[in-house]
Amino acid sequence: MEHQYEVFVEPSAEEATGLASKFVKSILSDTVLHRGFCYLALAGGTTPHGLYLRLAADGVSGDVPWQSVHVFFGDERDVPQDHIGSNFLMAQRTLLDHVPINLAHIHPMPADAEDLRNAAAEYENTIRQVVPCDGGAIPRFDLVLLGMGADGHTVSLFPGADVLRETERLVAAHFVPVLGRKRMTFTYPLINAARNVILFVTGSDKAETIAHVLGHDAEARAKLPVCGVMPTAGKMKVILDADAARAANLRPQ
Ligand code: 6PG
Repeated sequence: MEHQYEVFVEPSAEEATGLASKFVKSILSDTVLHRGFCYLALAGGTTPHGLYLRLAADGVSGDVPWQSVHVFFGDERDVPQDHIGSNFLMAQRTLLDHVPINLAHIHPMPADAEDLRNAAAEYENTIRQVVPCDGGAIPRFDLVLLGMGADGHTVSLFPGADVLRETERLVAAHFVPVLGRKRMTFTYPLINAARNVILFVTGSDKAETIAHVLGHDAEARAKLPVCGVMPTAGKMKVILDADAARAANLRPQ
């Protein structure tokens, strides 16, 4: 299936971060203005680090209604929330400690629980209780932020994983052989129910993968989990710096 992405290429990672911040702020503000609350799922890894710092700095100016935003996490590592590898800790230090968000509206993913399967089901229940379905069967996030690994994984949906074929569960936990660790993750049904998805990728190490993601080779795309992200009734923006876009022969606008 062909992709329907809106692709944006900025000359540098810094400028791509600036554009991502602009889109995130716009979605958060418009959503709260029109719907009263905004339901946001943050990405982990290192790419969003600068984005969260930028949002925190802008957030101090008060132009983002953080008090009406609920924050969830698209995936999490099997470490405690105070561990350096925790996506929650990264978001807390760069963003959540610096904006006027209601602490009760921050929902860390319990990926270090003893019984991960049960913890994933509980996290899914929390999402079902908090995030409106708007007439559908699946809660609809207003924005899901995603990164991408050079192997085409996104959140913790890795190539070849059984969880890629999950059609019922919205949150799953699984052992990731390539990491030798367990992860908890949103599944495609939950991601693809979102109103907005932003895939934010920078760096030349991801250029070849991005070229396949944006290309037309169905066989190559089928091997890349990020290509399974296709919001059923939402919009998807792909924000790149020139290094990540180069192999796709895309230049900054
Ligand atoms: C994680 C992320 C993961 C991340 C990619 C890219 O927990 O690591 O959720 O999906 O987005 O691995 O990571 P970088 O931004 O560090 O390249």
